[in-house]
Amino acid sequence: MIEPRPEIMNLPPYHPGRPAGVSAVINLAANENAWGPSPRVVEAWKSWEGGARYPDMDGLVLKDELSRVWGVSRETLLLGTGSGHLIKCLAETYVRPGDGVVTVFPTFSLYRQSTEMMAGRLLPLTGDGHQVDFSRLPAWVEATKPRIVFLCSPNNPTGDLAPSWIIEETLAALGAEGLLVVDEAYADFASAAPDLPKWIGERRTLAVLRTLSKAYGLAGLRIGALIADPVIIDAVSRVREPFPVSVPALAMGAVAVADETYRQEIVAAVAQGRRRLENALVERGWSVNRGAANFVWAAPGIAPRAARLKAELAARGVLTRHGDSFGAPDHLRITVGTAREIDTFLSVLDSILEEWGEQRE
Ligand SMILES: Cc1ncc(COP(=O)(O)O)c(C=O)c1O
Repeated sequence: MIEPRPEIMNLPPYHPGRPAGVSAVINLAANENAWGPSPRVVEAWKSWEGGARYPDMDGLVLKDELSRVWGVSRETLLLGTGSGHLIKCLAETYVRPGDGVVTVFPTFSLYRQSTEMMAGRLLPLTGDGHQVDFSRLPAWVEATKPRIVFLCSPNNPTGDLAPSWIIEETLAALGAEGLLVVDEAYADFASAAPDLPKWIGERRTLAVLRTLSKAYGLAGLRIGALIADPVIIDAVSRVREPFPVSVPALAMGAVAVADETYRQEIVAAVAQGRRRLENALVERGWSVNRGAANFVWAAPGIAPRAARLKAELAARGVLTRHGDSFGAPDHLRITVGTAREIDTFLSVLDSILEEWGEQRE
């Protein structure tokens, strides 16, 4: 039988949040948007007229909407089948065997997967698993001189936001030969996030990733964007397969991005839900890392307790994400759902704790 390349069989499989075939009462495991996309998207979907033709390879209509809302030129944009696809394209474009790639642990698994797929060396800056300490990053980059830095901000799973000065200092430490990729999948939810797309014109070693899967509620349509210097866009577009974003995805994406009022409503609802969920878990004695994304990262006690809770919640139809795949088995990551979903989560949690004899005073 033909053997895969050795790098491939060492890759951990991707963890999708919701295991295949599992139906749940509520899914708080995948950081999706519980409210769904703008009603204008739902309306536009009804009049969609089929897919006999290939999509526009450049996605110009959607790109024009994105350039308008992000204040960037069209030449600095490249669309992909979700931002995860573009992470892989970046690794394929730039990571040579043996190249160092820095990340800050715990973080999103695709940086490791993409690096190792290309036989690069992952150089993770590790911490305590509860919070990431971005302040150590510039010195780590200075010491390791990697080819790429994947920085997730706000970070999945901890929710921490990297301030502007960290990004400035990391760029300085990296030098002209490297690339800092800031994955801003959750930046819509972080009111204090620096406006990085606007930095692109002046900083040629910075690339930014955005997605329509989170705040815009289009995870099922798979639309991501890379914002970078046109030289980088040109190189990455050579490895990206043709027509990565489907006809309905391009059309619905443009409708979603045009509805700024809806995006702001989602962002406000998530901020409110996140505070409520964080406070409720603190009240129950959990150690909560207050974050800036659409999920909460918290430890209910020692590791076996987190695993048991996750399993017990799932048995009752409430899916959460256990921190084991992030190397933090004492944590759970819980997506901020609607007010009703938070009610359900808390009441199911309380009934479990009550059965375990751990009633709240
Ligand atoms: C940090 C981060 N980046 C990228 C992605 C990929 O998102 P998508 O491929 O849906 O754009 C995710 C998905 O959860 C994520 O958490």
